[in-house]
Amino acid sequence: MGARLIDGARIAQQLQAQLREQLATRLTPAGIVPGLTVLLVGENPASRIYVRRKIKACGEVGIRSNLIELPDTVAEARLLDEIERLNTDAAVDGILVQLPLPKHISVAKVQHAIRPEKDVDAFHPRNVGALVTGEPALEPCTPLGCLRLLEQESVAIQGRHAVIVGRSNIVGKPMALLLLQRSATVTICHSKTPDLGAITRQGDILVAAVGVPRLIKGSMVKPGAAVLDVGINRLPDGTLCGDVDFAEAREVAGLITPVPGGVGPMTIAMLLHNTVLAALRAHGAAR
Ligand code: GUN
Repeated sequence: MGARLIDGARIAQQLQAQLREQLATRLTPAGIVPGLTVLLVGENPASRIYVRRKIKACGEVGIRSNLIELPDTVAEARLLDEIERLNTDAAVDGILVQLPLPKHISVAKVQHAIRPEKDVDAFHPRNVGALVTGEPALEPCTPLGCLRLLEQESVAIQGRHAVIVGRSNIVGKPMALLLLQRSATVTICHSKTPDLGAITRQGDILVAAVGVPRLIKGSMVKPGAAVLDVGINRLPDGTLCGDVDFAEAREVAGLITPVPGGVGPMTIAMLLHNTVLAALRAHGAAR
């Protein structure tokens, strides 16, 4: 029997409809118009597509958005100056610098430069620290989106074994922390983990975020598991695939996200959520 598909695109649309409603009924009447500025450095084609989607989604829910494009030769100091200008601009609630950045620019310096209250990616060390200690702060979009999918599909987290494949700062590590906060038993695996399948087969919840096309075979999935595939890999023939071998894994899993149309749209929905939250907090109006 095949797994049930988790329709991330539909769930993201529902979240965006809720945000649009919240803006119309609560923020607009209070004179609050959330604003997001996206900085895009260089010509990376995938980044261009992602940024276009983010800007379009802002328009759909009523968030004011602004795209600043800089050439890949831009000096690091110029980018940092731009961030500082946005930090002090009251019309800007959220700042996002699309990754990856050219090699001559320090990602860490950029992440430190964004004011934590406007850091809708939640990559600033203060926001990362808050995630570790469980203090309220902005939380990173992709792991937050994964969590929403589990909640939406009524997947129990407490006491379950969550196995995460990938240890990135963007997904693997914060995903582990969010699941730990919800009382899962968490294991993080990575490219140096021997006998990966022996561990992934224990996962009631399996999150693949490692960037290796179809690494997770059906034999590596626990029967009935909830499988979240964060990978977006482009194959030589131009098609997209995840880090999970979807055709095999769906025969074993209980629930599974497709690629595309699974986790990806949720990342964008949570970016909008974070921008609205940042705007509410800036106006002292957050719950
Ligand atoms: N590049 C790939 N994923 C992300 C993300 O979540 N945020 C940013 N800023 N860049 C990315």
